[in-house]
Amino acid sequence: MRLSDCHNIDDFRTLAKARLPFPVFDYIDGAADDELTKARNTSAYDTVDLVPDVLAGVEDIDTSCMILGRKSALPLILSPTAVQRAFHWQGETAVAKAAEKFGLWFGISSLATRSIEEIAALTSGPKLFQLYVHKDKGLNTSMIERCQASGFDALALTVDTIVSGKRERCLRSGFTTPPRFTAASMWSYATRPRWTLDYLLREKFSLPNLDTHVAEGSSQAVSIAEYFNTMLDTSMDWDTAAAIRQQWGGTFVLKGVMSANDARRAVEIGADAIMISNHGGRQLDGSRAPFDQLPEILDAVGGKIEIICDGGVRRGTHALKALCSGATAASGGRLYLYALAAAGQEGVERALSILKDEIERGMRLMGVKQVEQLTQNRLRRRSVS
Ligand code: FNR
Ligand code: LAC
Repeated sequence: MRLSDCHNIDDFRTLAKARLPFPVFDYIDGAADDELTKARNTSAYDTVDLVPDVLAGVEDIDTSCMILGRKSALPLILSPTAVQRAFHWQGETAVAKAAEKFGLWFGISSLATRSIEEIAALTSGPKLFQLYVHKDKGLNTSMIERCQASGFDALALTVDTIVSGKRERCLRSGFTTPPRFTAASMWSYATRPRWTLDYLLREKFSLPNLDTHVAEGSSQAVSIAEYFNTMLDTSMDWDTAAAIRQQWGGTFVLKGVMSANDARRAVEIGADAIMISNHGGRQLDGSRAPFDQLPEILDAVGGKIEIICDGGVRRGTHALKALCSGATAASGGRLYLYALAAAGQEGVERALSILKDEIERGMRLMGVKQVEQLTQNRLRRRSVS
């Protein structure tokens, strides 16, 4: 299979699986426990149908919208994801350049393999930094101050990882950051020579936003679960979030809010947006899908805060359904990660081109010329039979 054979996000998943050692693929593709929430995140979009208008004169359409105070070419954000140079040697550089080319917001993780400064120097496009609150308070301040100095456009505080989800595929494969060749996985690395040679011969793997303060994850191999459970601050609460909001001072997002009460709390502490998210099903399996939860969140805080529906998006029509349900935008990680793993920047650009094409086609076939026209009356929720 080649890149030119990829015509949807699932094709990129197939190509990524062929090109990655299985521990690395399973880290991307996997989720918590029985992976029910990961599956539901996507299937939730099948519970509603679109009702198109026709003869609407849709030769000229505008897919752009304002997200977090910046213009976005599509109602879609590339969510922050960790250790991207473990997926492809270009890592976050590829995603940043592809996002800029398509005029989209993207985020880098606290566990990014490119530094805040490198990414800031690379692109003038809208970019957010996703903060994990560490026990080491000096590290938290260091990351916030580096983002302020580098002119990042928003800070997203992730709040759904107070402990790690049970990632059973990673328990079996022994996946770590940095990736380590174990007896269980040695054969897989040997049979993926392109990935393995890139990993061994190119720039040494590191977590440059953290290794000023900690060795874990950068020079000392640890599992993501170990990293979460030993390095992150489990005492984090609403006072912590409010203090970070004040310390950052800029556009502030809470990522991982799911309840209506928490959405109201996010408004109270002055957050500019919430990403309703279950971390791609990687944390609490059995958690509700963000798309299913969207109506309840809208009732609670609609019009008071921007609402980004994160996770499960694999089609342009998924983003259109999220907007009809009242979201400001949709967002996702795997929707670009499979493509990154499969083919670096070229892969991500192809994936974004496909999603752009699906959004444009969907709007035209719905008889919609601007995203503001994507309203609730264009959806019908299927009766549960
Ligand atoms: C993630 N996600 C994530 N979120 C976060 O706040 N910080 C992080 O470092 C990461 N890392 C990460 C790695 C990988 C491999 C994946 C798949 C996901 C979660 C991510 O931001 C987003 O919430 C989910 O990916 C959304 O689900 P989909 O779009 O992947 O289905
Ligand atoms: C994950 C963490 C890094 O989901 O957010 O793997």
